[in-house]
Order: sequence, then structure tokens, then C-alpha cells
Amino acid sequence: MAAIAVITGATGGLGQEFVRCVLKENIDEIWAVARNEKRLNALKEKFGDAIRPVRCDLANSSDLADLFALTESEKPDIRLLINNAGIGKMGSSAEFPDSDVVQEIDINCKAVCLLCSHAIPFMKPGSRILNISSASSFQPVPYINLYAASKAFVRSYTRALNVELRSKGITCTAVCPGWIDTEMLSKEYNGRPVKFPGLVTPDRVAVKALRDSAKGRDMSVCTLFVKYEHYLSKVLPHKWLMKIWINGIKDYV
Ligand SMILES: NC(=O)c1ccc[n+]([C@@H]2O[C@H](COP(=O)([O-])OP(=O)(O)OC[C@H]3O[C@@H](n4cnc5c(N)ncnc54)[C@H](OP(=O)(O)O)[C@@H]3O)[C@@H](O)[C@H]2O)c1
Repeated sequence: MAAIAVITGATGGLGQEFVRCVLKENIDEIWAVARNEKRLNALKEKFGDAIRPVRCDLANSSDLADLFALTESEKPDIRLLINNAGIGKMGSSAEFPDSDVVQEIDINCKAVCLLCSHAIPFMKPGSRILNISSASSFQPVPYINLYAASKAFVRSYTRALNVELRSKGITCTAVCPGWIDTEMLSKEYNGRPVKFPGLVTPDRVAVKALRDSAKGRDMSVCTLFVKYEHYLSKVLPHKWLMKIWINGIKDYV
């Protein structure tokens, strides 16, 4: 039975770093999940035959059913599940079209839970789940409201799942990075460069996340900057933090 890792959003900035790190672990195959087949094939060319491209739109129920059917038929030993794919849109959330609202919740929340439920029966003691949350999960964040709320959902879901799965010897870690230098971030707004305080490269986040998960931690917070943000979110009223945030982004919204 092949020992595999399933990594969603494997072609993206953070996903590729997870792929790079997981290849060093004792894994036969990485199921690399994303929509864009060209990028999936390029990933295989870059990292070799251990990569198995799995085209799947996580917002599409029929694609998800195909992915679960593949798991049922191959019955792999899933050592690692990394729910990394995620999307986020900046703006006034009440003005988003319904389709955007549904898509963001489907990818960031629904797919994460369904992938966990369908992977757990194929996981042995010592297996690990990493769900990518965000520092934006620490408090409500106006103008990335839906995204931050979806990441708060992921953090809460993952930490509780970690307790539920303790008896099975499976660890679940909510990964809570601050800004990461990937394609997800718009680098300029109205012709002006956007500043991202505490911006880090994706390799740092991936290495720390896998290390924390191996240690059995239910949360992974990379860098002192984000640890400080986490601390502030516990001791300061969230109304104050939202005011500070609004002040920081007033030029962009
Ligand atoms: N960048 C940041 O500042 C930051 C900070 C905190 C947390 N995060 C989180 O980190 C994770 C990775 O983000 P990233 O910065 O690496 O983003 P990214 O570079 O934009 O990569 C996103 C990945 O998700 C895949 N994806 C998007 N929609 C999908 C769908 N419907 N079905 C399947 N795959 C889909 C993309 O591939 P396809 O387009 O080919 O499907 C791509 O591989 C996300 O969960 C994000 O929320 C990011």
C-alpha cells in the first residue's frame, strides 16, 4: 500500500514549498491537487515522478466526488493531508456576488472538512493533517471579512479535530501565517506598491508548519511578528484591533 501525502493548492506559492519539504519525508507519492493542468504538469516536471497530478476544482462537488472515489479505489496509506488551497478577496463583503461568497466558503471551509472526513479512514497512527488557516483568524478583519471568518472557522475546526483524533494517534495542526510572498497578494493598488508588514517567504512557513505538526502542536505560528499579533488578539479588545487595521488600509479601500 503506497504511503502518500495529499496537498491541495500544490501549484501555488506555499503549496510548492510544502511539496518540496514533503519529498524529503518517507512518502511514496504526493497527490498534488489543483485546477490548472499545465501548472500541475509543470510541478511534476520540476519535482519528478513522486508527484501525481490530480486535477480537481475543490469548489465543484462532482470533482470532489471523483477525488474521494479515487481514494476509495486505491485505499492509500495517507500519511499527510495538507489542506492548503485557499482564496481570498478584498472588499466590502456585502457587495460580493453570491457566487464569490459561495466559492470562498466552499474552498476555504467546506472542502477542508470533507477532505479531512474522507482521508481519516485511510490514516494510521502517526499520520498528520495540516489545515492552512491564517493570522487573519485571530480577530475579525473588515474588508477581508469573509476570508478572515473562513480562516477562523478552519482554526477552530482543526484544533477541535486534533482533540477528537488523539485516540487514533492523528495530529491536526492549524497553520496561521501572516503575509506570505505569493501570487495571492496583489503587489500594487492604483499603481502604488502595497506594503505587507512582516512579509515572509513561503519556505519559512512550510518548514515551520511541518516541524510543529511533527511535534504534535495544534497550531503553527511562524515568526515573532505573528506571535506578537496573536498575543495582542488575546489581550486587546478586537474593536481596537479593527480600528488599527482600518487605519492601516485606509489608502486601499
Ligand atoms: N499569501 C498569504 O499572504 C497568505 C497568508 C496567510 C494564509 N495564506 C493561505 O495559504 C494558503 C496558500 O496560499 P498561497 O499564498 O500559496 O496562494 P496561491 O499562490 O494563490 O496558491 C493557491 C493555490 O490554490 C489552488 N486553488 C485555488 N482555487 C482552487 C480550487 N477551486 N480548487 C483547487 N485548487 C485551487 C491554486 O491552483 P489552481 O488555481 O490551479 O486551482 C493554487 O495552487 C491559502 O489557504 C491561503 O489562504 C496565505
